[in-house]
Amino acid sequence: MTTTTVLVAGATGDLGGRIVAALLQHDTRVRVLTRPGSGAADRQYGGTGTSTSTGTGTGAGTGTGAGTGADVPADRVDVVTADYSDHAALVSALAGVDVVVSAVSGTRAVIVDAQRALLAAAVEAGVQRFIPSDYAADYRSITPGSNRNFELRREFAADLDAAPIRATSVLNGAFTDMLTGQAPMILFDRRRVLYWSSADQVLDFTTKDDVARVTALVALDPGAPRVVEVAGDRVTARQIAATLSRLTGTTFRLQWAGTVGTLSAMAKVGRRLSKDDDEPFPAWQGMQYFVSMFSGEAELHHVDDERYGEHHWTTVRDVLAAHLGV
Ligand SMILES: NC(=O)c1ccc[n+]([C@@H]2O[C@H](COP(=O)([O-])OP(=O)(O)OC[C@H]3O[C@@H](n4cnc5c(N)ncnc54)[C@H](OP(=O)(O)O)[C@@H]3O)[C@@H](O)[C@H]2O)c1
Repeated sequence: MTTTTVLVAGATGDLGGRIVAALLQHDTRVRVLTRPGSGAADRQYGGTGTSTSTGTGTGAGTGTGAGTGADVPADRVDVVTADYSDHAALVSALAGVDVVVSAVSGTRAVIVDAQRALLAAAVEAGVQRFIPSDYAADYRSITPGSNRNFELRREFAADLDAAPIRATSVLNGAFTDMLTGQAPMILFDRRRVLYWSSADQVLDFTTKDDVARVTALVALDPGAPRVVEVAGDRVTARQIAATLSRLTGTTFRLQWAGTVGTLSAMAKVGRRLSKDDDEPFPAWQGMQYFVSMFSGEAELHHVDDERYGEHHWTTVRDVLAAHLGV
C-alpha cells in the first residue's frame, strides 16, 4: 500500500482541522492549503510551509509542518499557501496530490468560485478524486429559492459532475453539535422544543467529529460512490423533547412555531431586508435550514452508516447529555 497524499482546503477551519486529525489516523500525508495572509495555518500546523504564487513558487510539497503543535506530526503535514485566483499557484500546490478534500466555508465566492478554481487546478494537476465542501443535508432536490447555501452546493455539484475527476460528496444532515448552540430549536431555559409543521418529521444529525472521521475514510476509499450519506442519529422533534425530559427529569414540551410555508416566507422577507447577501449564516439562512429539514425535502434516504464497518456514532442524546452535564 502506498501512502495517500490528501490536500485539505479550509484545514484551518473547525471541520477542516478535525478532518486533518482524522486523516492522520491513517497512512496519509496531508497538505494543508491556505490563503496568503490567513496566518491561521502557521499557528495550527507550523510556519514553514511553501508559498506557491505564480512565477515565484518553489513547488508544493517541499514545505514541512516543522514547529507544529504537539499532536501534528511535522513529517506528515505540509502547509502550502496559494491564492484561489492564482491558477498556476494552485496547480503547483496540487502537484502529486491523490485526493482533494475541500472544507472551505462561505457563500458564492467560496462555495462556487473558489471551489471551481480548486477543481480546475486539481484536474490540470492530475488529481484523481475531489470531495467538495458539502457536509450538509441532501440539497439535491430542494425547491429552488428555498435554501441559498444548499443551492450554491447544487450549483458547484453540476461543475463537479461534468469534470474529469471522481467526486464524492459527504451528506450528513445537520451537525448535532449545533443543537446546543447555533440552531435555536431547543429553548433550554423555557423547556421547549420548537417544530414547524410536524413534530414527527425525521431530522438527520451527525457530530462534526463523526463527519470528519467519515470524510477521512471516504478520502481513502477509491471506490467511494458519488454520494456517501451518513447520520449519527435520526430523530424527530417529539423524540428530542422526550429525550430532554428523561435526561433532566422535568418535562420539555413541544412548541409549534408555525408552518414550513410561513417560515419560508419569513426567510424570504429577512433576506430581502438584509443588507449583506454575502454573510454565510444570517438569521434568514438559519430559517432556510429549518425549512429544508422540516419540509422533509433535505432528508437523507440512503444512509449507509455501516459502509466503513462498525462505529459508535455519537447520538443526539449523547450530545444533549454532555451539554446538560448528566
Ligand atoms: N451540516 C451542518 O450543520 C454544518 C454546520 C456548519 C458548517 N457546515 C459546513 O462545513 C464546512 C466547513 O465549515 P466550518 O464551519 O468548518 O468552516 P470555518 O471554520 O469557517 O472554516 C472554513 C475555512 O475556509 C477557508 N476560507 C474562508 N474564506 C475563504 C475564501 N474566501 N476562499 C477560500 N477559502 C476560504 C478558511 O481557510 P484559510 O483561511 O486557511 O484559507 C477557513 O478556515 C462548510 O461546508 C460548512 O458549510 C455544515
